[in-house]
Amino acid sequence: MKRTLSGIQPTGIIHLGNYFGAIHNWLPLQKEYECFFFIADLHALTIFQKPEILHRNILDLTKLYLAVGLDPVKNIIFKQSAVKEHAELGWLLSCVTPISELERMTQFKDKSTQHKDNINAGLFTYPCLMAADILLYDTDFVPVGEDQAQHVELTRTIAKKFNNQYGDVLKIPEALINKVSARLKGLDDPEKKMSKSAPSDYNYIAMTDNPDLIRKKIKKAVTDSGTEIKFTPEKPALENLITIYHLTTGKSIEQIEKDFAGKGYGDFKKELAERLVEFLTPIQEKYNSISDADVEKILAAGAEKARKLAQAKMILVKQTIGL
Ligand code: TYM
Repeated sequence: MKRTLSGIQPTGIIHLGNYFGAIHNWLPLQKEYECFFFIADLHALTIFQKPEILHRNILDLTKLYLAVGLDPVKNIIFKQSAVKEHAELGWLLSCVTPISELERMTQFKDKSTQHKDNINAGLFTYPCLMAADILLYDTDFVPVGEDQAQHVELTRTIAKKFNNQYGDVLKIPEALINKVSARLKGLDDPEKKMSKSAPSDYNYIAMTDNPDLIRKKIKKAVTDSGTEIKFTPEKPALENLITIYHLTTGKSIEQIEKDFAGKGYGDFKKELAERLVEFLTPIQEKYNSISDADVEKILAAGAEKARKLAQAKMILVKQTIGL
């Protein structure tokens, strides 16, 4: 059976971009593939995290995985730091990764501009750890949003380099990117991606935002000039909102344009907010019904399964390189 793997950093807010760019696309994959969905807690440390908040965020992100319908029996759901082979393989891969490749990474450039006071070595070698996450489990497919495509491409480069040097031991993975949802934009700035590190909370809808806040954020979302509800690159803010409407309701873009013919931005935004509330409320109810104790159990069971596979792979990798 082919394997799929993906993860999210437990850095607090999980927004519609993370959901539609990643998690939503994981849901159908569980039926077809052997899936690994993990909490990228080691990656989160590249930015300073308060320990008690990090722990809370790890549990909450796992709750969200469960609340949206990832099955903990069928899939392997675990915390990256619970399987130490991720860090071990990360080191081995860093020894075949050219610095010039790491320097090209857009995320490194962005984050080192954003966090000028903490440009740590982990931020720089981050893609080597991500490559390890993927290569440790002989992953075939990596479903991610567009901003991670460059890291998956580098993973392929690293794996090929490693195989050339030592023999064919690492499987070359492929990114799975859903074009429609690959890059949701900020509600306050449609030129930039929706991002948890955006300066304003009005940039995103978080999966846990309450109905009033959702209504407020959609009302405040920037719009373009004109009044017509039309999906066109000339109206990037509206294009983004229509995409969110489409993803949330499953209605086609054409149908949405038809439904709002003759109506204005105000009507459209009101409807969008209500559809989002309808979409998120059941997820939030499920999320609130899951206990920390259940989450801890699921993470422990997932780590045990992942560890077995990771250990076997590391034995093979170490033998191959003469360790
Ligand atoms: P992270 O935590 O930044 O984001 C999680 C997922 O959400 C997607 N995403 C978006 N998609 C559409 N529109 C947006 N505005 C948007 N913002 C974020 C991301 O592309 C991602 O799929 N390095 C990864 C975590 C990771 C990982 C891995 C992923 C670590 N190891 C191995 C896959 C495989 C990250 O920081 O994602």
